[in-house]
Amino acid sequence: MDCEFIFRKSFGRVISLDPFGNVFFKRFYQRLFVSPEVREKFRNVDMSKQYIALERSLLLLVEFFVDKKPGKALEKIAVRHTKSGLDIPPRMYDLWLEAMLETVREMDPDQNDEVLRAWKTVLSGGIKYMTDVYEQSN
Ligand code: HEM
Repeated sequence: MDCEFIFRKSFGRVISLDPFGNVFFKRFYQRLFVSPEVREKFRNVDMSKQYIALERSLLLLVEFFVDKKPGKALEKIAVRHTKSGLDIPPRMYDLWLEAMLETVREMDPDQNDEVLRAWKTVLSGGIKYMTDVYEQSN
């Protein structure tokens, strides 16, 4: 089965677990914030808004996977994360992906290796794009 389909089904499951409590996003950020340098980046961020941004981001990353290039929205987000902006280095994206996969493993009742591989495959291209934009920034 194709990665996009497996990803979308799994995404639907984790989102609908608790649609108003944002439990999936809360657990994700709890994991991500184990790293003090990452937590520091979010010091002044309104997390309830961030949950919405993350949900939207995941869909932009799928769009990248399908189109094999960024849309305008993802381009803007990538620039916002560069050295002169939020300054998010590649190692933080490794933590981001790890936290995401661990949260899917925990929260998706139908998770298995294929599902986790699909998440990794779908998200990796967009992450590589964002870290490339970071490396090229000054
Ligand atoms: C593929 C990975 C990522 C995507 C698609 C993404 C996407 C986004 C989006 C859509 C926003 C909101 C932008 C806005 O409101 O204008 C945002 C903000 C932010 N992101 Fe990311 N992000 C990613 C990875 C990361 C990582 C790894 C970190 C840090 C560890 C990070 C830290 C932040 C911070 C600190 C904000 C600012 C929130 C604010 O000031 O309101 N992001 N990101």
